[in-house]
Amino acid sequence: MNRRKFLKIAGSTGVIVAAVGTGFVATRTPTDALKPWENAGSLYSDPMRRALSYAILAPNPHNRQPWIVDLKSGTEAVLTCDLDRLLPATDPFSRQIVIGLGCFLELFSIAAADQGYRADIRYFPDGEPGDELDRRPIAHLSLKKQEGLVGDPLFAHTLNRHTNRNPYDTSRPVDDNVLKRLRDAAAGNVRVGTANGGTLLKDLRALTKDAMLTEVGTPEAYRESIDLMRIGRAEIEANPDGIALGGAFLEALNLTGVLTRESLADSTSRSYQMGLAMIDEGAMTSMGFVWINTMGNDRTAQIDAGRAYMRIALQVAADDLAMQPMSQALQEYAAMAPYYETIHEGLTDQPGERVQMLARLGYAKDAGPAPRWPLEARVKES
Ligand SMILES: Cc1cc2nc3c(=O)[nH]c(=O)nc-3n(C[C@H](O)[C@H](O)[C@H](O)COP(=O)(O)O)c2cc1C
Repeated sequence: MNRRKFLKIAGSTGVIVAAVGTGFVATRTPTDALKPWENAGSLYSDPMRRALSYAILAPNPHNRQPWIVDLKSGTEAVLTCDLDRLLPATDPFSRQIVIGLGCFLELFSIAAADQGYRADIRYFPDGEPGDELDRRPIAHLSLKKQEGLVGDPLFAHTLNRHTNRNPYDTSRPVDDNVLKRLRDAAAGNVRVGTANGGTLLKDLRALTKDAMLTEVGTPEAYRESIDLMRIGRAEIEANPDGIALGGAFLEALNLTGVLTRESLADSTSRSYQMGLAMIDEGAMTSMGFVWINTMGNDRTAQIDAGRAYMRIALQVAADDLAMQPMSQALQEYAAMAPYYETIHEGLTDQPGERVQMLARLGYAKDAGPAPRWPLEARVKES
């Protein structure tokens, strides 16, 4: 949302304007929370840590960073899921959490190849979990030096890939060649679909918007997001995960009491109204959509979807495009059932086919990096 419109709803107080117009701005960047983006590839000499230092930059739902890596040696490790980092209200079967782990594995593999190592990744070595994730490993990772291994050109875009929640430029269509490159970037057992115009684009804009408004109107689901909000620099530095509401402007709104966890939960507040306006603006400026389908929905299919999403996200960055997942309609809780059904009717070809990811596309102002826990916080050695 542009600042003028935002202020109109927020009521522009002198404090906000003053704060945004002074040195306050320069001091609000959560520098430690963003360090993993600077440190990727540079602090570690063994190939495993080097590749992992990129993998932790993978997209993942609500930035929960659910990965824990048990390091066995400089070339062997086991990836497990941190069961304290699930999203029970919006992701009751941890489908999206596993997709995020798939993104992690793909980025790990691409980063390893850049150093001349082939990543052998064995999924679910002790068996695949069912509807509930458990402590069994997600994957066994091992790296093998391979002479003449050609790196993946997508690696070059790792550090400028960011989820972009800004409004998209409605004067710039996303052309067919760009969509083809996105479809071609995906690999593995998935079917990728795209749209950039016509009734389908119009319908997807409306459906993703309605599904998101429904999430906000469903108390347990919305509460889960609010509890994961980190408002302002101090909160982001203390917990570099979740939904970061940072920057001088939002922090000034927080200091003046306009934007707080309590106000966001109160449907009569200005910040709640701002949130609704931002949802509308985001969804309705989508200039294209991309979706990733799998046959069936077992855990391996979810990993495949994550790996494909990672590759598409890197291609999005290569094309200077913007992308934001719009996951609400794909979620498995009662209030979403009508959207889930419509989306599956519209975007699948066969019974049993499952839409795993749906994201909007367009051109937009750059989005900055999202916070990350440092690698040391997510690995243990045994
Ligand atoms: C499975 C999955 C679902 C996601 N769903 C949403 C979503 O519905 N809305 C959204 O804004 N971002 C969504 N994201 C993006 C994450 O919020 C984002 O990756 C995370 O906050 C880290 O930020 P980054 O991608 O900029 O590094 C999703 C990501 C994944 C992997």
